[in-house]
Amino acid sequence: MSGKLFVIGTGPGNPDQMTPEALAAVAQATDFYGYGPYLDRLTLNAGQRRHVSDNREELDRAGAALRSASDGANVCVVSGGDPGVFAMAAAVCEAIDNGPPEWRNVELIIIPGITAMLAVAARIGAPLGHDFCAISLSDNLKPWDVIENRLQMAAKAGFVIALYNPISKARPWQLGKAFELLRAVLPAETPVIFGRAAGRPDERIAVQRLEHADATVADMATCVIIGSAETRIIARDGQTDLVYTPRFISGGNR
Ligand SMILES: C[S@@+](CC[C@H](N)C(=O)[O-])C[C@H]1O[C@@H](n2cnc3c(N)ncnc32)[C@H](O)[C@@H]1O
Repeated sequence: MSGKLFVIGTGPGNPDQMTPEALAAVAQATDFYGYGPYLDRLTLNAGQRRHVSDNREELDRAGAALRSASDGANVCVVSGGDPGVFAMAAAVCEAIDNGPPEWRNVELIIIPGITAMLAVAARIGAPLGHDFCAISLSDNLKPWDVIENRLQMAAKAGFVIALYNPISKARPWQLGKAFELLRAVLPAETPVIFGRAAGRPDERIAVQRLEHADATVADMATCVIIGSAETRIIARDGQTDLVYTPRFISGGNR
């Protein structure tokens, strides 16, 4: 008989932002599959086994977890943030889609988590208060011209844009190029939030205006939120500024 396959998210890194439902899944599983730093966020007992793999090996990891669950183990695949946002839930579905028929019989339980853009947004105000979208800036799994097109269309359509995977050693120029494209569409004073390691001890949140937005402020632990033409900054004496996007735009009913 097949075991259960849980796919969980740890949240952005603050232990308080991991859901009770995800913690209950951890208590039920014997085998844990994930990238080492995400598995390190879990407190496991002596009988629970870690299967660590590199963060580029998602499909192999999903296959290994499905094989183990198919053989009867209760297993847990671990992502950071939410497992369905640029993470392991899609890799597990891809593996099932292309894998042996018995993997379709595994009981799959995907448990939602707090994704990075929500943690960043909450630290600075309410930049996602009106319509928004999320785009991964990584051109590993999709061509760069698709990303450029999506950025331009999203900005023209008035969406606030949350950028995941903004920059890495192998992808050093893409965020700068994205800012360049967006400057042609959005007002110069549009707020850009650099939310790094939200909820973790090394958290750093910075706000710049699009005209001077500096891509070197970001690293792989940063979620960049680019406002829409409606997004505003409220200056506060002695407190950090608030950035928010009002719930209404002109022409709507208040
Ligand atoms: C592969 S994606 C995984 C996203 C994850 N599943 C989620 O829901 O947050 C990794 C990207 O998430 C963002 N990220 C993850 N944790 C973060 C945090 N604590 N603060 C800011 N951004 C974070 C960064 O953009 C990073 O490059």
